[in-house]
Amino acid sequence: MTSPARTASMRNRMEMYSGNALKLGLFGANCSSGRSATLVPERWSASWADCLALARLAEARGIDFMLPIARWKGYGGATDFHGTSLETLTWAAGLLAATTRITVFGTVHAPLFHPLIAAKEFVTADHIGQGRFGLNLVVGWNEGEFEMFGVDQREHDARYAYAQEWLDAVLRAWAEPGEFDFEGKFLKLAGVRAFPKPFGGTRPIIMNAGSSPIGQAFALRNCDAFFTANAASRVSLDAAVRKVEEIKAQARALGHETEVFTVGQVVCRPTQKEAEDYYRHAMIENADWGAIDGMLALKDITPYVIPAEEYAKKRHYFAANAIGGYPYVGTPDHVAEELANISRAGMRGIAVSFVNYLNELPYFCDEVLPRLARLGVREEPMRQPA
Ligand SMILES: Cc1cc2nc3c(=O)[nH]c(=O)nc-3n(C[C@H](O)[C@H](O)[C@H](O)COP(=O)(O)O)c2cc1C
Repeated sequence: MTSPARTASMRNRMEMYSGNALKLGLFGANCSSGRSATLVPERWSASWADCLALARLAEARGIDFMLPIARWKGYGGATDFHGTSLETLTWAAGLLAATTRITVFGTVHAPLFHPLIAAKEFVTADHIGQGRFGLNLVVGWNEGEFEMFGVDQREHDARYAYAQEWLDAVLRAWAEPGEFDFEGKFLKLAGVRAFPKPFGGTRPIIMNAGSSPIGQAFALRNCDAFFTANAASRVSLDAAVRKVEEIKAQARALGHETEVFTVGQVVCRPTQKEAEDYYRHAMIENADWGAIDGMLALKDITPYVIPAEEYAKKRHYFAANAIGGYPYVGTPDHVAEELANISRAGMRGIAVSFVNYLNELPYFCDEVLPRLARLGVREEPMRQPA
């Protein structure tokens, strides 16, 4: 039997095997157009070849993690935003096999996956990556996706009650040394055997991004990492510090230690004007408004239920904020300073997207990473591969 080449303590896993105080990840690269509902021709393809090249580049440049989006159905519009997506667990397994250092998350909708099949898929990916697989557990919010599977979506709070049982079953499958029965309200599992256990005698890190009170409580009770779309840069640094402390205190009160992460969109260019011009060009002037209307309609926001002026504002806000991620737009100095603020606020990391990840990541790594090291929130960046 070959022995594990790597130690994968829970601390190692949370540190993502690096000394970077601020963890940087890439968000949404498995979905067409990533996080930018835009018509620009350079928008992200999400092809496997591009994802693989991106993961290799990201790893070589010291990016800490990749976070996909579990999406089953496009949002429509001229581009059918997210209409093409790679399934996240098989995507993660492929990327983990092709890399050695970067952490890769898989995102699952608890109601759509049997917990024992899912638990084994997570373990398999975790062994492939030698302790670099992370789990993003979501309960779903897009009704059309559930109809497509012929699965009835539970009412909102019951989704989290089910997810709790689902996660408890997965955790037992990961930990129980022998056979076990699981008797819950929703799940009855008899004579369960689940081997092997996750890599290195520990378990994958678990994240969630629930934003409702019940979703947030679920995350803080169960997860190692809580993702909030409310980035530090939206508010003052003091307010962000208070918010992060409040989230961590709530988690502690629920008997858990949770790290706080956020999400954002980066447009970084040599001058502020170039960055702002491109941001406006891609995200506003060439927004895929049909897709944005489709997404808002799924959240019951339509011009039929709110006044036209208010709807126009919401629509603009959604486009301008990369469908729920603060835009970091500007020079390397500007972007680095805003990202460093996230770390100063006590957040552990951020998952960012680009209009075209492969085109834009090299400049970001060349210019922003050394500045983040000088600002004391990341290690010296890795040298560019020859
Ligand atoms: C970083 C991040 C990643 C998310 N990933 C997914 C995903 O892959 N699939 C999905 O259906 N929802 C995803 N969501 C949505 C959340 O899981 C959650 O359902 C949403 O924030 C609404 O909160 P609630 O469930 O508490 O109402 C994500 C949200 C964030 C901020």
